[in-house]
Amino acid sequence: MKKLYLASKNQGKIEEYKKLLLGVNCQLFLQPKSIEVEENGSTFRENAIKKASEVSKKTRNYAIADDSGICIDALNGKPGIYSSRYAENDKKRIERVLMELDGEENRSAFFIANICVCSPDGEVILESEAKCFGNIIQNPRGKSGFGYDPIFEELSSKLTFAEMNNNLKDLCSHRGKALKKIIPQLLTIFN
Ligand code: IMP
Repeated sequence: MKKLYLASKNQGKIEEYKKLLLGVNCQLFLQPKSIEVEENGSTFRENAIKKASEVSKKTRNYAIADDSGICIDALNGKPGIYSSRYAENDKKRIERVLMELDGEENRSAFFIANICVCSPDGEVILESEAKCFGNIIQNPRGKSGFGYDPIFEELSSKLTFAEMNNNLKDLCSHRGKALKKIIPQLLTIFN
């Protein structure tokens, strides 16, 4: 069975990927702790490519990476690639966004995910991008998830990501949709 390294140090993310990659015949590992990749690209795509390419070259195996974030129209797309660095923790990041949107009527926003898969020699072999549209609500709702989930109300369900169970979030989330697009190609490579 071929190995696939997830370019991330987040245990929660590997559990999410294991579910999404069910059926793809690979052994999934988190990137080795010794590998540090600086996320200094100017787009989500650049960051995803950089992470997958460095991890594949260093492990000499296939690597998959994603870079994601939330873009808010009234804030000209911010926090964007700075989503994870917008304040020191999730609570403060949410507070900052709500403060910056105070009095703003246009609350539209989208989550975006770019996914990149590299071959063991570091070459980009697959790329995918997907968005999930919604609105930033005034008062956080829901207990699940992470990050901006409690303030992002998905457009069609009117539920916040934090009110969804994992299966529903995977169905409509940016990451779930981006990964689903490349499942046929992943099956060709790994099965
Ligand atoms: P990364 O792509 O894992 O580096 O995530 C970037 C940041 O975007 C996270 O730290 C969160 O702040 C935010 N983010 C990305 N996806 C989600 C999501 O599904 N829900 C909530 N926040 C998210």
